[in-house]
Amino acid sequence: MESIKLKKITSVWIIAVLTLFVASIVLGILMRLNQGGVLHQAPITFYSNMTIHGITMIGIWFVAGMAGINYLMERYVKTSYTANLIALILTVSGVLMLWAVTLIGKFHTAWTFLYPLPLRVMWAQWATPTFLVAMSILATGWLIWGISMMTQVLKVYSIPQVFAWQHFKKDPAVKTPPFILISMITLVGVVTCLLVAVLLMALYFAEYFSKGNFVNDALLMKNLTYFFGHTIANEMLYLGLAVIYELFSEVGGKPKWKTTWYVALAWNFTLIFILTAFFHHLYMDFVQPEGFQIAGQIASYLASLPAAAVTVFSVWVAVYRVKIKWTLTNLLFFVGVAGWVIGGFGAVIDATISNNIVLHNTQWVPAHFHTYNILGNVLFSLGFFYWFSIQFTDKRVSEKLSRLILSLLIIGGAGFLLAFYIGGADSIPRRFSNYPAEFTTARPLANIGAVFATVYLIPILILFYNISKRCLKILFSSS
Ligand code: HEM
Repeated sequence: MESIKLKKITSVWIIAVLTLFVASIVLGILMRLNQGGVLHQAPITFYSNMTIHGITMIGIWFVAGMAGINYLMERYVKTSYTANLIALILTVSGVLMLWAVTLIGKFHTAWTFLYPLPLRVMWAQWATPTFLVAMSILATGWLIWGISMMTQVLKVYSIPQVFAWQHFKKDPAVKTPPFILISMITLVGVVTCLLVAVLLMALYFAEYFSKGNFVNDALLMKNLTYFFGHTIANEMLYLGLAVIYELFSEVGGKPKWKTTWYVALAWNFTLIFILTAFFHHLYMDFVQPEGFQIAGQIASYLASLPAAAVTVFSVWVAVYRVKIKWTLTNLLFFVGVAGWVIGGFGAVIDATISNNIVLHNTQWVPAHFHTYNILGNVLFSLGFFYWFSIQFTDKRVSEKLSRLILSLLIIGGAGFLLAFYIGGADSIPRRFSNYPAEFTTARPLANIGAVFATVYLIPILILFYNISKRCLKILFSSS
């Protein structure tokens, strides 16, 4: 049973995530308007905004997933409130530092902060060390949180059980709930990539303070950066999926999903291959050993396709010709799974070496990763946020308003994404603050993207108001 403290801290996470989400969407719309020539920001402002937009979006949807699984995990094992609180305090500190570093200090390396950019200071002197400290603080807080949850699960389930290996035989005596399996698989990846982040920061600090006596290896730094960045951006999707496996059937008034041999197999594939899929970010680095490039393509398929197949199958079986209770929560989950699969398909196309030669660093890249985020993972977490907030109050969002919210999310999201996909197919490069006249379609597409992103913002504001209001009540109630 969830404690009052857990309810309150989950409410704080939700309000913080939604607030930062609205602010970051506004930055995104400003970027699109600038690319469309409607606004005229200085390039340094555009790139500072792009940097904080990317870091914030990845950070908030990661912690949203962590807060979601922490809350639901209490159904199976006792979790640590202290670890949750430490993560919250360190996240707030890290985020404040990062917003100061980018918006005041004008640090603008993009969220990928590729070596040696952070050390080539073209911004306030204090910004680089503060950025490194902020990233270290965030990684430490999330490591403590992730390790703590893993430890608590391992107090109840053995190692073979958390990975559901007993399900490879018929009728296992102990059944691993899918939620525990997916949470654990994901936490292993999360903890591994955060350890790499800590190592990466240590290497940056070593070079920063060495005054030229120590220089890092650029290829190693790029591998470490993408090991961290790609993996965390992917794992956050799987945190959302753990929530769906736990809640989808429950919300629809149906029996809980069970772990089967193929669910266990698919997620064990994900555990192994997610850690090597990042190599697809280095296809253009010709000094990278060729074997890694091939491993990158194969791992990209094996990390995503089996998990997607079993999830789509589970959702399909749960809804096809079955009368279930539809609420805003499972509707968001349902649309989210579709968005995840479509975006994943776009990602697999890009991760195929022969295609990447054409699509590399075109707008196809923001197209596919925004798809499985704005119409995928974000909806998983919004579904959880809504479900969480209505548990403690009678008032629900009306059917009419639910329909409006979903329609605007889909129309706004699809239009915003289509502008990126068409740009990518037309070989328009990504990350330009202004487009030269030669890219004739770049500006109109950017403006169309901005209009649709504004449509997407409307239901987000409705949900922000609706969910935050209830979370504030939970926060200030005595039970
Ligand atoms: C409607 C909402 C959003 C808008 C309007 C928006 C807009 C943008 C724009 C214009 C860019 C720069 C694209 C380029 O030229 O490369 C961008 C980059 C990015 N966005 Fe979004 N975005 C939105 C939602 C999200 C979400 C939900 C996430 C993640 C969960 C996200 C993560 C990122 C990341 C990681 C980058 C790359 C930043 C970089 O290159 O350093 N965005 N976004």
